[in-house]
Formats: sequence, structure tokens, C-alpha cells
Amino acid sequence: MYQPIVELSGAEWAGRESNDDVIQALEQGGVLYFPGMAFEMSAQEQRLLRADLRDPKARNISQPARGVVKGATGTPEELELLNAMMRRYRHQALQLVNEMFPRYSAHLRIEPTSYRPTEVASRVQSWRADDRRLHVDAFPSRPNRGERILRVFSNLNPQQPRMWRVGESFEAMAQQFLPLIPAFRPWEARLLRSLRITKSLRSEYDHMMLQLHDHMKRDLRYQREAPRTVAAFAPGSTWVCFSDQTLHAVDSGQFMLEQTFFMPPQHQYRPDQSPLGILTRLKGRELQGARL
Ligand SMILES: [Fe+2]
Repeated sequence: MYQPIVELSGAEWAGRESNDDVIQALEQGGVLYFPGMAFEMSAQEQRLLRADLRDPKARNISQPARGVVKGATGTPEELELLNAMMRRYRHQALQLVNEMFPRYSAHLRIEPTSYRPTEVASRVQSWRADDRRLHVDAFPSRPNRGERILRVFSNLNPQQPRMWRVGESFEAMAQQFLPLIPAFRPWEARLLRSLRITKSLRSEYDHMMLQLHDHMKRDLRYQREAPRTVAAFAPGSTWVCFSDQTLHAVDSGQFMLEQTFFMPPQHQYRPDQSPLGILTRLKGRELQGARL
């Protein structure tokens, strides 16, 4: 059964094992919350807790798996400190996931590490980009054909929690919005690719995920009335979820590190519980361009 948030004890990143209940909680779309698992920062690294470290022209500070940080401003010493801190975070996040979910480990693709030093509550954005509305993550320009988005987050803020709302199960949401989604049009996907609006061909799965994302965010009544659980991720805590499946809204918070992994859904413990598995079942047929 779907549980929005499952709390796990302990402070250590390494040497953690999980049982069937924990794996099920994650794969059913819940957030695994480790209130006592802090990402330790040195005294020097505390200097990086400043909003103006982000280049105002960049949406986020990010570091590719092989490369140096982008979107940051600062002295060469600060940038070196930031690079080293983000690399260490990536290493710890990977170790955590590898040890807790050994079946995933050979199939994870390491995506960029991101540092978010901006206060979420004050950010002004269009409805589609506004992550303060309940949504699942879906990328308009990067089709992923059912690949999973697994994310590890840590709150670096010494005083303030990071506030989320976690919604109902993916399946309950999809049942409401699927009837409103227009049919997938392969010619439109080809056009978007030839115009370079998408980096590769959008599949029916991508089309459905983007539509669900937009329908959810645009529907003010859903935003107001849909079931939700408030989560206050404490200073010095860490949490993990499949953000393409967990309905989430970010209300406030500042200073967070995040690591993204991609993984084909067939390497899950239960592929049928993935968004691709759920949408395939609800549609009653295989989706065009994606197969489990
Ligand atoms: Fe999100």
C-alpha cells in the first residue's frame, strides 16, 4: 500500500541495508526520509551557504558527473570548495543507493548533482515551472521513454526545514487525469524533434507524463483539494524518492543538495509499479515507443 512518507532511523550513509518493506515503499512512490542522516560540511564549506553563490542568469548550480560546476559565481577558492563538496555528495548518494538497492546498482546512470542555494518561497515562476504546485517530474525537452528519475536530497540549512507536500499515489492521480489527455500524435513528436524542441523523439509515455504534469499544475481545484501530507525535512536530513512518481510540491526551504540517477524501469524490483507499468495497465495496451 502506498505510504507518502516512511521514516528510517540512523545517521550513516554507508553500510545500510533495506528490506522488502523499504523497497516496496520506494517503488510504490513513497518518500524514504532519513531525519538523522546529515550531509556533513566542514567549517570552510559553511561559507557556501549563501544565496548569491548562484549566478543570477542560471536556474540552478549543477555539476555534471564528469566535469566542473556550472551556474555558480565566487572566488576560485570557493568554486574549488564547491566542486569538491558536490563530488563528495555524489559519491555518498551513489553509495547509499547502491547498498540499499543492490539490484539497481549496475543500471544507474549518474546525472548531474545540483546545489540549490535560493529560497524557494520567494521565487516567481510561470504555473508550468512552479514547483510549489503538486507535480511529478517530467522533462519537456528530454524524452526518457519510461526511464526512472531517482533522486537523493539533503537539507543543508542549519536552521530551517525544507517544506514539501506529498500527494496521493501516482495511480490515483492518473485515473483522474487520463481521460482528459489528448491522443499521442507521432507526427507531432517528429516535428518537435526536427525543430529541436526535444533532444530526441518524444514517446507516448513522455507525452502522457507531460500532460499529467501540466494538468495537475494547471488544475487549481486539484491543487487546493487533492490529498496531501505535509513533510518538514529537518535541517541535517536526507530523503530519497522516484520524483517521476511521487507527487510533490516544494513550499519553502533554502540550501539543498540533490543527486539524480536515471534507470530503465525493467531493473526495478517490481517494474509493474513504475509509471510506465501503471500507465500501460490503465491504458490496457503497450504505449507507443516504450516497452517494459
Ligand atoms: Fe519536482
